Amino acid sequence: MKQSSANLQLTAYVNDKFLPLEQAMVHIEDRGFQFADGVYEVVACFGGGYLDLDAHLQRLERSCAAIEIVLPKSLEALKDLVQQAYHKNPYEDAMVYIQVTRGVAPRSHVVNQAMQPTLVITVRDLPLPSDTKLRTGVKACTLKDIRWKHCEIKSIALLASVMGKQEASRREVDEAFWLDEKNHMLEGCATNVFAIIDGVLVTHALDHQILGGITRDMVISLAKDLGFVVQQRPWKLDEKGLTECLMSSTTNAVMPVCAVDGQAIGAGVPGEIGLKLRALMLEQFEELRHAKV
Ligand SMILES: Cc1ncc(COP(=O)(O)O)c(C=O)c1O
Repeated sequence: MKQSSANLQLTAYVNDKFLPLEQAMVHIEDRGFQFADGVYEVVACFGGGYLDLDAHLQRLERSCAAIEIVLPKSLEALKDLVQQAYHKNPYEDAMVYIQVTRGVAPRSHVVNQAMQPTLVITVRDLPLPSDTKLRTGVKACTLKDIRWKHCEIKSIALLASVMGKQEASRREVDEAFWLDEKNHMLEGCATNVFAIIDGVLVTHALDHQILGGITRDMVISLAKDLGFVVQQRPWKLDEKGLTECLMSSTTNAVMPVCAVDGQAIGAGVPGEIGLKLRALMLEQFEELRHAKV
């Protein structure tokens, strides 16, 4: 059992060193700070068992490749560092955050020198997805997508997501979903979004407008296992036959969304299919405790 007290000592990894969190620093000329020139991952760990660590590391590799950063470690070495970081921190259930930036250089947009990428790993508590919200379901709003055109890259440039979340908070809802120019639902600020339409699970196809969520993949494969048809296509909230809406992310698992822009979805309470998918996903989380990496 890991320690649990109010005064927890957290440890971070920065460029080959594990340090107390307060001493973990990067240079002010790090391009992550100057230009948001970097990418990241958030991996969940339940009692030492990781939720699809390989898939997260492969996505990190893809994000790095997309912006021409060479990962400073092999995937095997990264896996080992993630495990060390988890064990050096006090949480049983944790979110392991991995950030890679292009590195430190005198501030200039153009990258004209070889740089050693900066690698940071931090670990935070991951409260088990709570059932409290399930009684009412999550509420959300929609916003016109103001993000860039490479949302498939898990970039640390999260200003639009911060603004979206702030707006959601002002409207006293939990998440904001981005709409394309034709009002199709794309994804949330930090979640993927699905609908149940005529009994079919529908979600936007993978393209430059959404992040390929690891839990999105889980939802799709759980739904297929249950015998549901899955369609990856543009969809709108006002489609006839839409009975449920769901969102997914590493930190939320899959959650029923019961109201969007003040309008009830279906009966306005968590629906049967969403609850079933959630129960199955939480079962998989629990199984991870017994199948540690
Ligand atoms: C924009 C966006 N979409 C989707 C997700 C969900 O991804 P995952 O299921 O891999 O946590 C996230 C997670 O942070 C996100 O930021």
